[in-house]
Amino acid sequence: MCGIFAYYGEKKNAPELVIEGLKNLEYRGYDSWGIAYKTPTEIIIHKEIGKIGDIKTKDLELGESGVAMAHSRWATHGGVTKANAHPHFSENKEIVLIHNGIFENYSEVKKDLIKKGHKFVSQTDTEVLAHLIEQHTRKHSFEDSVKLAVKEIEGRYAIVVMKKDEDKIIAARKGSPLIIGVGKTHGEYFIASDIPAFLKHTNKVIYLDDNQICVIENRKINFYDNATNEEIKKRIIEIDLDIESSEKGEFEHFMMKEIMEQKETLNRAINQDPKTIEQVAKAIESAEDTYFVGCGTAGKAAMVGAYLFAKISKKQIRFVFGSEFQNYKEFINKKTLIVCVSQSGETADTLEAIEIAKEKGAKVAAIVNVESSTIARTADMVIPIKAGPEIGVASTKATTSQLAILTMLAYACDGGVEIAKQLLIRTASQINDMLNPRYAEHIKKIANKLKDIESMYIIGRGANFPMALECAIKLQEVSYIHAEGFAGGELKHGPLALITKNTPVIALVANDDCRKEILSNAQEVKARGGYIIGVSPTNEEVFDFWIRVPDTGETSPIVNIIPVQILAYQLAVLRQNDPDKPRNLAKSVTVK
Ligand code: F6R
Repeated sequence: MCGIFAYYGEKKNAPELVIEGLKNLEYRGYDSWGIAYKTPTEIIIHKEIGKIGDIKTKDLELGESGVAMAHSRWATHGGVTKANAHPHFSENKEIVLIHNGIFENYSEVKKDLIKKGHKFVSQTDTEVLAHLIEQHTRKHSFEDSVKLAVKEIEGRYAIVVMKKDEDKIIAARKGSPLIIGVGKTHGEYFIASDIPAFLKHTNKVIYLDDNQICVIENRKINFYDNATNEEIKKRIIEIDLDIESSEKGEFEHFMMKEIMEQKETLNRAINQDPKTIEQVAKAIESAEDTYFVGCGTAGKAAMVGAYLFAKISKKQIRFVFGSEFQNYKEFINKKTLIVCVSQSGETADTLEAIEIAKEKGAKVAAIVNVESSTIARTADMVIPIKAGPEIGVASTKATTSQLAILTMLAYACDGGVEIAKQLLIRTASQINDMLNPRYAEHIKKIANKLKDIESMYIIGRGANFPMALECAIKLQEVSYIHAEGFAGGELKHGPLALITKNTPVIALVANDDCRKEILSNAQEVKARGGYIIGVSPTNEEVFDFWIRVPDTGETSPIVNIIPVQILAYQLAVLRQNDPDKPRNLAKSVTVK
């Protein structure tokens, strides 16, 4: 989603530097971008629609400056236009602002400002905030005006603001990530929505928390609690992320690199202190009710988790999408546990579920990839999945690691965390054998056959039903082919009417209790002319095309998704889509 990157320091090429940093946030997904920098006499803004990747900074004729901010926008309020792109000026063009999140009550504030004579040039909520700060500067200092203005915002935000004639840059956050990078030279600071923006310059960071404000001036940085206006001390943390892990290496796209990394990432997820898993398992056992919560792909992994618990630990877990959680709030109390699954740890819908749970006194556990994220820092217990930075918008390696942790958790509730570990070590080694160029070539044959189709379907049963839904997400987001997942048994209740001659249907066939039934469902499709692509350890008569996967028992959801990730990737490339940056989507979904 939107990206923020700002620089304050001695370097005089700040405008160029923030553009280069913004390029490292491209994976978050955006549709326009812009920068602002200060010269001794004015603030200059440059905005563009489209991608920043191909921009050569020398073509932009940028001036020299030691203070600059850059933003990539994912449209929410108002279309994709230059006027709506950030940064936004205040009425008098003295204040400039970039913003992530949503200013929910902006239209009332805007009406009030219009009455006071303000004129707006964009349809955004962000511009309203720039004007609101300016309105306060008529009576207060710049710093106090920012503090007053953010108090009026309903919703989540991360902002960076600067003002002409003031050697100052101010940042504030509530619910949307903002991280300060501490530079190598005295008084040099970076402000970003995500660490890769400044990782090249520093690995020393300070996490801004909700309702905190950071003021950088005269080469010094100070932090304030916005509720009390008291100064607060913040810790500098050294992070061990290397630049290489956020680069493509020999691969053409991050998505393929991350699919191939699953041989190693699974092992990292499994080989962690079992006590971390056992602690959450104990909390599940003692809770009266446990909810697994997540969105999109992470939601599908959470849904698989509920199936694994029913089967392995004979425990009932409810699965709820983050965006639907509010409908269950009447049932949440001090004896409830919610386990959130999230790659980024910043998903607004999941965060809202946590807020509801906390208000009701429930305990929160999180299964996350980004260990420094808001979800990780808000939860009472955290199981890191240790997949490393996932840059491709389509989640791949984080999904299989989330599934591995959920499998360990289900076994841990039955006292068998070591059994799970051995099973997963075998699975990882079988995946290692499977993930080779020959395997990808075999799947490419089916991608070539499917590349011009309009619709396809995926069926599964048991824990492979949510995986069928996940296969559909992968195919939709990068190939743009209409794809839908169904529980095999549901076909005859409606979707079978969609099957005509050669309609492609992927059947996820695990060697489990559902095997016979899912094969009968495949027969039902075949009888109506459908074309069956079987993902299965064994070849079956009903298959028109067979994609072999190892027989791994309870971890079949992990091995079944991998060939479909490869298929989705290859369809994207064949259809000339960018698999790393699907249209309209964002990596970190920080709006509700
Ligand atoms: C799809 C995908 C999304 C995310 C969803 C939740 O490939 O990645 O569906 O799973 O937006 O994001 P996280 O996991 O960051 O909470």
